[in-house]
Amino acid sequence: MSTVASEVAYLSRALKAPRVPEAARVLAERARDESWDYEAYLAAVLSEEVSSRETHGGQARVKRARFPQVKTLDDFDFTFQRSIKRQQIAHLAQLDFLAEAKNVVFLGPPGTGKTHLAIALGVQAARRGHRVAFATAHEWVLRLGEAKRAGRLDGELERLGRTPLVICDEVGYIPFDPEAAALFFALVSSRYERSSLIVSSNKTFSAWPEIFGDAVAVAAMVDRLVHHAEVILLKGDSYRLKGKHKEVMGSENTR
Ligand SMILES: Nc1ncnc2c1ncn2[C@@H]1O[C@H](COP(=O)(O)OP(=O)(O)OP(=O)(O)O)[C@@H](O)[C@H]1O
Ligand SMILES: [Mg+2]
Repeated sequence: MSTVASEVAYLSRALKAPRVPEAARVLAERARDESWDYEAYLAAVLSEEVSSRETHGGQARVKRARFPQVKTLDDFDFTFQRSIKRQQIAHLAQLDFLAEAKNVVFLGPPGTGKTHLAIALGVQAARRGHRVAFATAHEWVLRLGEAKRAGRLDGELERLGRTPLVICDEVGYIPFDPEAAALFFALVSSRYERSSLIVSSNKTFSAWPEIFGDAVAVAAMVDRLVHHAEVILLKGDSYRLKGKHKEVMGSENTR
């Protein structure tokens, strides 16, 4: 290794910029061939380092968000799910709703893509540099219940409030007892106009009083949830049953 190259290697280690030595070497060849000026060469080397950090940071944030699987909008078949517009979801994927602390609510029957779309938006947010936390409504309530018993509910909500996107999947699959309902209410109201929530539910809002058991509290919560929100209604058949209808639903064999 030349003296300059070993100095670059040493300085890169000191700066904790591991992509620099390789980028500096490869780009120097191009810079010589294409007669770049010094500033252009420096910018190209630094931008290699930055984009490598962004990729790794994105992966780390996706991991930390604890998605059950990684799903993206590219995997979503809009020709199967015709009740929503690709354009509407693509607009959400630009993430303006995060900057505006707005919510997104997906409502619809099983298998229509609610979790898929919630994860896809979350993955996009994580890759774009935002912290994201994913869990089911049931899991959030368990976590908040633990925090409450340890006397640190306010601190936990405060900490969560600094996470720009919290995803709360499957509201309604497990009914809430009064304490769980109160904790869920606390989560929604602590984030109201401060930071975003994505919520998914297989029940329309009219059925939420049954889940939470208290019509008055539910009205106040839904009010906060949807005041600044995009509510997306999904319809149609379950993607899980795609192509299986005949056998699964027990209709006649059509062979
Ligand atoms: N339009 C679609 N294109 C591609 N894959 C889809 C589509 N809709 C759903 N899926 C896939 O089908 C499975 C079920 O979808 P998803 O988990 O999003 O349903 P859901 O609406 O959350 O249902 P549930 O209410 O049962 O939780 C997932 O593996 C998801 O990736
Ligand atoms: Mg789901």
